[in-house]
Amino acid sequence: LTADQATLVQSSWKQVSHNEVDILYAVFKAYPDIQNKFSQFAGKDLDSLKDTAAFATHATRIVSFLSEVISLSGNEANAVAIQNIVSKFGADHNARGVTKAQFGEFRTALFAYLQAHVSWGDNVAAAWNQAVDNVFVVAFKSM
Ligand code: HEM
Repeated sequence: LTADQATLVQSSWKQVSHNEVDILYAVFKAYPDIQNKFSQFAGKDLDSLKDTAAFATHATRIVSFLSEVISLSGNEANAVAIQNIVSKFGADHNARGVTKAQFGEFRTALFAYLQAHVSWGDNVAAAWNQAVDNVFVVAFKSM
């Protein structure tokens, strides 16, 4: 990611990164197969789950992971650190039976959320696409 692209991703992420529960809700709503991979959420009514502490905890974990990668991006000095955390992320999810296709679904749902909630445009979209491509290249090597 270029420094400029990283700045675009960072500033748009800042506009929504406090909406952890909303983001996870949007992902599960669009893709129940993702929700169903979680033993504590599988088969449960999403609208009831949304207000539980367990849901908030997991939403915060996901958003914190994204925030960490996003904050490290755009700086070559952080390349190895990013590689390490993203490959562990891929390996851990692979071990839980999460598929590349489900990561693709997550991408689609996240982008729909971003488009609806941040100032979106071709340059922002291109920066996010590049960011997620980079993450997937590394994560998929462990899957
Ligand atoms: C943990 C599933 C995508 C971040 C987990 C757990 C499951 C899971 C089952 C274990 C939960 C527990 O035992 O409490 C999935 C599925 C995904 C997905 C089906 C499909 C797209 C993501 C994405 C992120 C993410 C895109 C981050 C952007 C995390 C984190 C944890 C976690 C940070 C907790 C730390 C860990 O145990 O690795 N995920 N996940 N997940 N997931 Fe995901």
